Amino acid sequence: MTDKSKTLGEFIINNQGEFKYSSGELSRLINSIRLAGKVVNHEVNKAGLVDILGSAGDENVQGEDQQKLDVYANDVFINTLVKREIVCGIASEEEDDYISIIGNNKKNDNKYVVLMDPLDGSSNIDVNVSVGTIFSIYRRVTPEGSPVTLEDFLQPGNKQVAAGYIVYGTSTMLVYTTGHGVNGFTLLPAIGTYYLSHPNMKFPENGNIYSVNEGNYVHFPQGVKDYIKYCQKEEEDRPYTSRYIGSLVSDFHRNMIKGGIYIYPNTSQNPNGKLRLLYECNPMSFIAEQAGGSASNGFDRILDIQPNELHQRVPFFCGTKSMVEKAESFMKKYKSSPAV
Ligand code: AHG
Ligand code: MN
Ligand code: MN
Repeated sequence: MTDKSKTLGEFIINNQGEFKYSSGELSRLINSIRLAGKVVNHEVNKAGLVDILGSAGDENVQGEDQQKLDVYANDVFINTLVKREIVCGIASEEEDDYISIIGNNKKNDNKYVVLMDPLDGSSNIDVNVSVGTIFSIYRRVTPEGSPVTLEDFLQPGNKQVAAGYIVYGTSTMLVYTTGHGVNGFTLLPAIGTYYLSHPNMKFPENGNIYSVNEGNYVHFPQGVKDYIKYCQKEEEDRPYTSRYIGSLVSDFHRNMIKGGIYIYPNTSQNPNGKLRLLYECNPMSFIAEQAGGSASNGFDRILDIQPNELHQRVPFFCGTKSMVEKAESFMKKYKSSPAV
């Protein structure tokens, strides 16, 4: 059997030995995410057919308009994980606070917490552009059997035991890492099975794509403005190509395969940028590093940031290592630390 005929289910079982602790539990957790991803995929695929588009009429805790599919995806992932009693706590971009699954007469000795962005790029749904789901998994730091606390969620990204994303694109893929490289699985929808289509994913050594919302150019820090001008200069292998979908998952996925950098910097209006450290940047940074790439806030490694709140935002520079280093070199010319 070639590697490529391997299913995600087989891959998880074959690689259980990589985990130091409670391998069965982590495998069951990834299995549950695989299942929830299929359910969301089914709904996303028919979004154009049913009256599911448009706003649900609510705002999330960050004051952003929630689309119906955001709410749906959030419910599917939470219900799947809660019902199967796989984790002891969940934090989601769409929830004001974290959810403890222990307490209220529920007892379990599960050791893992999940943090997620259930639907990333949701403003793209009603124009049939790819969206995604991002997840991040940690071992709890408080004692097993007791309700989880904020401390279990506010861990630096370097403590992640697994992270991944699902991209609901022209085909649906689940890409994840447990700290032993990055593997990508493509869903065969007729059968409902993910196959290992992209084993051991790596950023190419050099990239020529930059992904940034240039509409915000006037509000960018001078270092980012200078880096963009560098990307556009006619010299050596430049000018680079500009590609920006507006779904982090899709932009990242393309850049990991083709070589590129994604930037969502701090701006004069949003001094910490837009993206969330815990639900978006940490998991993507873990995957990036495992694929030979790099992730930074413009100055320091994302994975070493000690979070102090659940919905914390951070400037994000992520992708091909040499490109991130180049962007950092421009940032460092103007300031010794990111804008606060
Ligand atoms: P979400 O849909 O989870 O709120 O995330 C959207 C994020 C990210 O996916 C995307 O790259 C970025 O916001 C786009 O922001 P702009 O529209 O400001 O460029
Ligand atoms: Mn998002
Ligand atoms: Mn989202």
